[in-house]
Amino acid sequence: MDKRDELIERRKNSVLGGGQPRIDKQHKQGKLTARERILLLLDEGSFQEMGMFIEHRSTYFGLDKVHYPGDGVVTGYGTIHGRTVYIFSQDFTVLGGSLSETHALKICKVMDLAMKNGAPIIGLNDSGGARIQEGVVSLAGYADIFYRNTRASGVIPQISVSMGPCAGGAVYSPALTDFIFMVEETSYMFVTGPNVVKTVTHEEVSSEDLGGAKSHAEKSGVNHFTASNDVECLKKVRDFMTYLPQNANELAPSPKNFAFNVNKLESIKNILPDNSNLPYDVRKVIDCVIDDNSFREVHEDYAKNIVVGFARLEGRTIGIVANQPASLAGVLDIDSSRKGARFVRFCDAFNIPLLVFEDVPGFLPGTDQEWRGIITHGAKLLYAFSEATVPRITVILRKAYGGAFDVMNSKNIGADLNFAWPNAEIAVMGAKGAAEIIFKKEISEAADKEAKWLEKEAEYAEKFANPYRAAERGFVDDVILPEETRDILIKGFASLEKKAEVLPAKKHGNIPL
Ligand code: HXC
Repeated sequence: MDKRDELIERRKNSVLGGGQPRIDKQHKQGKLTARERILLLLDEGSFQEMGMFIEHRSTYFGLDKVHYPGDGVVTGYGTIHGRTVYIFSQDFTVLGGSLSETHALKICKVMDLAMKNGAPIIGLNDSGGARIQEGVVSLAGYADIFYRNTRASGVIPQISVSMGPCAGGAVYSPALTDFIFMVEETSYMFVTGPNVVKTVTHEEVSSEDLGGAKSHAEKSGVNHFTASNDVECLKKVRDFMTYLPQNANELAPSPKNFAFNVNKLESIKNILPDNSNLPYDVRKVIDCVIDDNSFREVHEDYAKNIVVGFARLEGRTIGIVANQPASLAGVLDIDSSRKGARFVRFCDAFNIPLLVFEDVPGFLPGTDQEWRGIITHGAKLLYAFSEATVPRITVILRKAYGGAFDVMNSKNIGADLNFAWPNAEIAVMGAKGAAEIIFKKEISEAADKEAKWLEKEAEYAEKFANPYRAAERGFVDDVILPEETRDILIKGFASLEKKAEVLPAKKHGNIPL
């Protein structure tokens, strides 16, 4: 055969993966193939494949007779909106996308290149886990990947997209990365599948319930972003990448063509209800402040009492953390503390300034929270804010009570600029509870106890349910009108643009894990 023809033939063979019948099966299940996914994710014509002729070396259990060039994973590099990314995409049509020694080597190679060149790594996962026929060499291959994931953490963004079954080792690499995308109905992630669960715990559960996109988005928080199919998922990833820098030494791109609807300066005045005990959706506040349609909420369905996500202010990426009064009154609990802390640490690692909108009645009390470790988990958020060196601004919208005031990016834990709206209430606790404690004797001795309690509640509220005690002490830098917020934030972040704060020299801190 002519040498050119041989190459063309070999390429064709590699592109076929596990063969047309298996590709058809993949399509029938509503899934794209590994290569189709890459072509949709990357800029047209930008993908350069590496290692399409690599084959496994195993001889056990008949593997010596089964060889698939590429060995179940497509790897290489390309661009998204003109910026380089490294990529691997597992091919389920080849031995279930299972990870062999050489499959792992291919992934490690692109991970190493991503690190050397300061570019993000994106993994499209669709794999039955360690290749069972290979035994320990496959396990070692996973360990090589986990090691690299950990070393790359905080250096380059690492994105995992779960687009099929991800079992065993196939879930731990994503877990070590920064963000996980999942596809409804076709992707699931679990350490052990339903059959093992049934054998060990006698529980009967479907794959979808055990580890589907919805379960991980709502219950475990493993899944950050859900899409309804492969195409939508890959579009979301493309869009998401525009919010991130290439690596920890760079800034996120800042498009000049942002838009802001000035009518929102009117709308923002009417978001807070007259009664401070009534809920509202903090995302309305976010929307009225940021560039139009620029909010990308992370973990939308998990721990809804805190809202986190990326947005743009005059084109610049910022990370937003906001208490959500529309869910559990915006209280801080274990899940919301973990969610907030992880987001803050990502932003800090990748030079993304932090904006906090605060409306928090405190930490959630109770045995469930205490016994499951609210002390440790709440401390994660405190720790994450305290160690963050990126520009940090807080706007207290309404309640800032108790320890939660300290935790939510207070001045004393290193926030650069703190503002409060006129409705802010900044105190150790709400007026009702405060009056009950500090005026206990007076209330119990009064002829009309209820009236006395109300009188003392009003007295406490008059003194503390406002932003001015905090402003007098400099814990907030200014009290601002809602409609002034966007402008003040833009000027504030501009003033902090050159902020250069260095943590004390250390090997690493010891976050309360
Ligand atoms: C080798 C595998 C495989 C594996 C699937 N296949 N998983 N081959 N090693 N781990 C092969 C199948 O034999 C089959 O080959 C093809 O892939 C498609 O698999 P099916 O079972 O037909 O597909 P489906 O019904 O969709 O089920 C997918 C699945 C299931 C849920 C992923 O295959 C499964 O449960 N696989 C095993 C999962 C697992 O326990 N992995 C090991 C985890 S331990 P043919 O030739 O018939 O097409 C692990 C350790 C690392 O990963 C730990 C690190 C911390």
